[in-house]
Amino acid sequence: MARISVTVDGARYVDDVEPRTLLVHYLRDRCGKIGTVVGCDTSNCGACTVLMAGPDGGPVAVKSCAVLAVQVDGGAVTTIEGLAGQDGELHPMQRAFHANHALQCGFCTPGMIMAAVDLLRENPDPSEAEVREGLSGNLCRCTGYQNIVRAVRAAAAELRGEQVLPAESAEPAPGTPAAVEVEEQEPVPVPVVTP
Ligand code: FES
Ligand code: FES
Repeated sequence: MARISVTVDGARYVDDVEPRTLLVHYLRDRCGKIGTVVGCDTSNCGACTVLMAGPDGGPVAVKSCAVLAVQVDGGAVTTIEGLAGQDGELHPMQRAFHANHALQCGFCTPGMIMAAVDLLRENPDPSEAEVREGLSGNLCRCTGYQNIVRAVRAAAAELRGEQVLPAESAEPAPGTPAAVEVEEQEPVPVPVVTP
């Protein structure tokens, strides 16, 4: 066993862990951060992405299934559950994903949002192509990515202090209830029962 001390979403944890314990399992099983999910366990899908202190102290996105818990000893980790402000106000990236219909099943969303936050740290004004390139390590099998790209660029604009793209311009991804055309139905006549 190895003793580690790590700050997760602002709370400090001191634990004895097996040296082989993956960070994602430590976060979920010990810290209860089940918002960080395991999609593949082989560092392909990006669903487990969290932010951890980088070499310069700034947060960088890492796939927590590719990091050992002992590697974060003495450091700090932010999961999707620690991204909102202390008053509960959502991070602009979370709001943008919601406003732009950038999720369906939501499984990829925590990792996608954390990777997107890191992307904007490096590039506050990414083009559509740069967003796609920057998030190429995060897979989504539902949305087709279009609204994810739109959300990331909307969050970028907000964080730069610019006018946010109107959320109405976002198209619900195919298959979502909002994308289904509903035919107007004549109201069913209600029989009048007389005593
Ligand atoms: S679970 Fe898929 S990259 Fe970590
Ligand atoms: S919303 Fe389902 S995998 Fe992305």
